[in-house]
Amino acid sequence: MISLRSSGWYSGDDRNAYIHRAWMRRGIPSSSFENRPHIAIANTASDLTPCNAHLTEVAQSVKNGVYEAGGIPLELPVVSLGETNVRPTAMLWRNMAAMATEEMLRANPVDGVVLLGGCDKTIPSLLMAAASVDLPAVVVPGGPMLTGHFRGEALGCGTDVWRLSEEVRAGTLSEAMFLTSESSMIRSKGHCNTMGTASTMALVAEALGTVLPGLAGTPAPDARLLEAAHETGMLAVRLVWDDRRPSTFLTKGSFHNAIVALAAIGGSTNAVVHLLAVAGRLGIDLTIDDFDRIGSDVPMLVNLQPAGRYLMDDLHRAGGFLAVMREVRDLLDSDALTITGERFVDCLDDARIWDPDVITPRESALLPAAGIRVLRGSLAPGGAIVKPAAASAHLLRHRGRAVVFDSIEDFHARIDDPELDIDADSVMVLRGCGPKGYPGMPEVANMPLPAKLLAQGIRDMVRICDGRMSGTAYGTVILHVTPEAAAGGPLALVQTGDWIDLDVRAGRIDLDVHADELAARTPGQATLDGFARPRRGWERLYIDHVLQADLGADLDFLVGATGSRVSRESH
Ligand code: FES
Repeated sequence: MISLRSSGWYSGDDRNAYIHRAWMRRGIPSSSFENRPHIAIANTASDLTPCNAHLTEVAQSVKNGVYEAGGIPLELPVVSLGETNVRPTAMLWRNMAAMATEEMLRANPVDGVVLLGGCDKTIPSLLMAAASVDLPAVVVPGGPMLTGHFRGEALGCGTDVWRLSEEVRAGTLSEAMFLTSESSMIRSKGHCNTMGTASTMALVAEALGTVLPGLAGTPAPDARLLEAAHETGMLAVRLVWDDRRPSTFLTKGSFHNAIVALAAIGGSTNAVVHLLAVAGRLGIDLTIDDFDRIGSDVPMLVNLQPAGRYLMDDLHRAGGFLAVMREVRDLLDSDALTITGERFVDCLDDARIWDPDVITPRESALLPAAGIRVLRGSLAPGGAIVKPAAASAHLLRHRGRAVVFDSIEDFHARIDDPELDIDADSVMVLRGCGPKGYPGMPEVANMPLPAKLLAQGIRDMVRICDGRMSGTAYGTVILHVTPEAAAGGPLALVQTGDWIDLDVRAGRIDLDVHADELAARTPGQATLDGFARPRRGWERLYIDHVLQADLGADLDFLVGATGSRVSRESH
């Protein structure tokens, strides 16, 4: 039988074991310290992370399951990131959340962990932490909210905020009506109900094998979520006895399946940086080119906003995530395992599509090739990405003149200036939004279009940025340009009026400026000014150590794993 890690704290007759036990005795029986797995429940519930506020209820079901299986559940509140609240961007804090969770799991007497996440950065940070501490770990995604309605129409969280606000700017919706929609947007507990980053990361985590199969995508108010949480608690105890740690079952094949899933669901571009970061913690050689190689020819089968029509509770009633994956079974790595020990492909046998308008069968795919494309060229030597499923087909090959903004503040100050020299063929360039430059790589790349062009009926233009875009957003947006402007990338040298060539099919993004002329240019002063502000604390640490987007924007010293061993006693 495996020797429990927690026994290193609790077993024995010495003073230290006495201290560890005595302070934990708060009504729990003595048998709690006798060879029973201690399971942490890393809980990102927070009133300031509204998408995760219900996770305390979920944690109770996990606890019941842990007890039933003979373990001891221990709730561990961890750093929580509310996408809509946290400034300057939740992504600045993803690595901090991962680092803090990793360290607290390592520092405490726990044998395994159940990871409760939901809102965008929470599942990625929990997975990064679990990968580095390498304790048995399983995710319970908090689930999407139910669909709200406004004027008889379903509202997609995020996506419809962008759409309705653009209608106000275009003059086709009154501001009063826009504000009236606010109270209809969030109908229930749970995270955003579009195929945004939260939904994407929950499903991708299941494709990786880190979630009880069939659970991801269960709506937050659905009673089956609590049932699955209970089962997951029981499973966590078994994982400890089986010594099933992330390093023992997560492989390149697991990430292969995650990339296929990402394409088939039409998932968020943010999954790219998150999966790269998790793989980096595991020492798995995953690159952005893998997303193109594995995913770009995968058909898109899920008709959900922002790329399609429906919302997450529709996906669940239509058969759920496993029904989607069954359609692309032949594209999956058949050896990849799930947390239960079975092969992921073997979990697909019983899955069925109940509504082919929401989950389309393979032969009638919404898009024949939907995955993320990687672009390279003189404007992005280290790579950039685009999500063709969210883009306009007529813009996937485009040549236009740049209109450059040095920061998001510069953008907001000038975009609706009637004198701004811009038309539908222009290419909007926003820089200073990368990991170092902002700092934190915010979701600003999906720049709103100029009001004067919206009024002309224009709804999409080519946009280029070294930042990210919300998973709920849409448009022909070239993201994650690497190296970013603040790291000396050519993006810093673009001037308004330069010609830019985009060819998604060819995987190219080029600045049509002669190399000699480019060499004579210096970065725009505003770009440098924005980056040169004095910093302290986490921001200082982050800027000094953050990697570029093509490496997952992790901190250089957090890549890899340390494991769970702590050799020194605390007293
Ligand atoms: Fe939390 Fe969208 S704001 S998932």
